[in-house]
Amino acid sequence: MAALLKASNITMQFGGLKAVDNVDMEIQPGEIHALIGPNGAGKTTFFNVVSGIYSPTSGSVIFDGEEITKLKAYQVTAKGITRTFQNILLFENMSIVENVMVGGHTRTDSGLVGSLLRTGKSRRAERECYENAMKTLAFVGMEELADQSASGLPYGKKRILEIARALASHPKIIMLDEPAAGMNSTESEELSRIIFKIRDAGITVLLVEHDMKFVAGISDMVTVLDHGQKICEGVPQMALNGPRVIEAYLGKEEEEEEA
Ligand SMILES: Nc1ncnc2c1ncn2[C@@H]1O[C@H](COP(=O)(O)OP(=O)(O)O)[C@@H](O)[C@H]1O
Ligand SMILES: [Mg+2]
Repeated sequence: MAALLKASNITMQFGGLKAVDNVDMEIQPGEIHALIGPNGAGKTTFFNVVSGIYSPTSGSVIFDGEEITKLKAYQVTAKGITRTFQNILLFENMSIVENVMVGGHTRTDSGLVGSLLRTGKSRRAERECYENAMKTLAFVGMEELADQSASGLPYGKKRILEIARALASHPKIIMLDEPAAGMNSTESEELSRIIFKIRDAGITVLLVEHDMKFVAGISDMVTVLDHGQKICEGVPQMALNGPRVIEAYLGKEEEEEEA
């Protein structure tokens, strides 16, 4: 099977630091793929490269058979890649459905002039955008909350709302940067149900996560980064128990003490 996303020899250098160092990674269509590694390993930087926020120092990104390495973030979104961010980025003063509409707006084509003139075409587009947002909220089980302000949501629901916003653009792949961070166990169980539902809807998932139980329970494949380099890759049971992985997380000294 051809990979949906194929990143080859990706290096992202900031001054003297190689935040991502010659990383190869393939994401197969339909899988839930976890990207893990200690703080500062380069996980978010890898997301930023794939999503077009950074243009890599070297290497290439092929998505769905097409080179996207040099595309800007909005162009990458239009190709079918969306993401959430490590820190919550919501419009707190807007309603929940409006927040999701922002994500769907990348698809409407009436443009700014159309919106200002409120042409028939733009009103239709606005209506479609609203309906799309409501469907997306229903998908994540938040449709009754649609008209409430985003600021009033509990933390876990804010994180789900960000996922809904990313889903509103109908991506082929969604990249989630630490979606379970700060969640309690009820919230993270709900999150894993939603992630499985996204996968079952035919959307490929790439996620960064620190909670190893969460990763083991949800992913088909795990890639491990350390100091910008890929140190291990495989099914969870194998990847999470590799000696270099345990070493990267615990540090050499602790491992030696235990030995
Ligand atoms: N825009 C930037 N400029 C300079 N250094 C950066 C930038 N973004 C990330 N870094 C550095 O790159 C390394 C990897 O960071 P990051 O990708 O955020 O790691 P992770 O998400 O795995 O915790 C860190 O040392 C971080 O300080
Ligand atoms: Mg990060």
